[in-house]
Amino acid sequence: MGIVDKNDLTPNSLKHIAIIMDGNGRWASKRSMSRLKGHEQGAKAVREAIKGCRELCIPFLTLFAFSSENWKRPDEEVNHLMGLFRYFIKRELNELKAAGVKINFIGNISMLPDDVQELIETARLQTEGNTDLVLTIALSYGGQAEIVNSAKKLAEMVLSGEMALDDINETSLAAGLETDGIPDPDIVLRTSGEKRLSNFLLWQSAYSELIFQDVLWPDFRRENLEIAIEEYYSRCRRYGAVSA
Ligand code: FPP
Repeated sequence: MGIVDKNDLTPNSLKHIAIIMDGNGRWASKRSMSRLKGHEQGAKAVREAIKGCRELCIPFLTLFAFSSENWKRPDEEVNHLMGLFRYFIKRELNELKAAGVKINFIGNISMLPDDVQELIETARLQTEGNTDLVLTIALSYGGQAEIVNSAKKLAEMVLSGEMALDDINETSLAAGLETDGIPDPDIVLRTSGEKRLSNFLLWQSAYSELIFQDVLWPDFRRENLEIAIEEYYSRCRRYGAVSA
């Protein structure tokens, strides 16, 4: 039984949780293991987060799995992460498909290895009709680049005469983002105790509630989701106005 009512459209209803999954490396070093092991355990926590959102009836979950800056990590770590994304899609696709999960990807996917790009396209196509949970995985994603790309599309339309300069506004810019059609996150949750957005959903998080938990990502469980949801409902969202 879920704790979120999907039909509740009041301003504070919880539709979308976005997670910065941080702390895989520290989880591994605490156990004298290689960082790669931390990412492997992190992939298991991804399954927990998806299961938790399904059980709690949260209709949108976005996971920051690889940032545009993560390419700077050692080749061995990048390759291992690519292997985990491959393994995850291959292993989870059928189950997620059957569970009504729509899998969506944002980020500069063209930077990923060809076979990962193919798997991504397969996962997207095979689940596009699903509606129970929209799972968005951010891969090679950077929020600033996403905003720049949208601004360029608008600039091109103005230059070609398809659009008037005055039609560039918050709505048209948001429509050019990769998250078009997905509600802005109600919660941006970061694990590991760090308190930064790290270039994640910069436009979309303008009014998100930021929640930071000390848990390292591989230890993340349904209870952590529940704690975040409780904290969300204890907050008062005013969107710049005053309380009723
Ligand atoms: C940040 O922790 C985590 C990442 C850069 C990778 C996230 C990847 C996963 C959770 C595993 C696979 C994901 C999917 C979708 C299958 P960090 O390495 O920066 O940790 P640290 O700050 O402790 O070093």
